[in-house]
Amino acid sequence: MADNDSRAGKRYDDPAIRGYLDKLHAAHDPGLERAFTTPQQNPDIPAIMLSPSEAKMVELLVRMHGSQKVVEVGTLVGYSALRIAAAIGPAGKLWTIEYDPKHAEIARANIAAGGHGDRVEVLVGKGVDVLATLEGHGPFDAVFIDADKESYHLYGAWATRNLRRGGLIIADNAYVFGNLLGDTAAGRSVKQLHEDVATHYDSVCIPTPDGVLIGIKK
Ligand code: SAH
Ligand code: DHB
Ligand code: MG
Repeated sequence: MADNDSRAGKRYDDPAIRGYLDKLHAAHDPGLERAFTTPQQNPDIPAIMLSPSEAKMVELLVRMHGSQKVVEVGTLVGYSALRIAAAIGPAGKLWTIEYDPKHAEIARANIAAGGHGDRVEVLVGKGVDVLATLEGHGPFDAVFIDADKESYHLYGAWATRNLRRGGLIIADNAYVFGNLLGDTAAGRSVKQLHEDVATHYDSVCIPTPDGVLIGIKK
């Protein structure tokens, strides 16, 4: 069926459709539910984690890719980390980096409650500083970027140096809340990431509400 509306950018989803599909395909076990609802229980925690379907997509990408050694920048309270931990299996290892020690403490408890405390290390500090300490554990199979948008170009450069050939890069907020083409520090940084990824990876930007960039390193 010819569909000029969707090619022009029209979207057909709505809250009812998204809710139905989140529940059908991306349901929560008790551990995921605990992490996902942490912001509702704690007013100091922003509700800025991936959506249920986005997080399940990251889980499936990591599982399909067969990643074992994964780095995440931007833990919040461990929701996406639990999805990645499930995908890497018991032999895998996830290093996840969080700047805010209050977020990191809650994340550790959520990840332990979800049954993945053994395969996840939550590291506290600025992404750029902590990444520099991880290089000896590399090369890595996958890197998921979801922290401060102004540093995305630095996280991408680190990923390109420290992923194996065939390694997977994933970055949330690839539209920068609509500022990708704007002259802001975040817009410039994420645009640089897109251009670096287009050069060094086989890549695409998936049109989720705020865009998810994925690439396989050449
Ligand atoms: N990936 C998470 C959501 C991350 S939200 C999930 O989907 O469940 C972004 C997180 O990045 C916040 O917790 C924020 O404190 C953290 N952050 C902000 N600046 C950072 C930095 N410079 N280094 C590491 N983490 C940072
Ligand atoms: C924010 C950060 C995110 O990673 C996100 O997906 C949504 C919002 C934020 O910092 O506001
Ligand atoms: Mg995000």
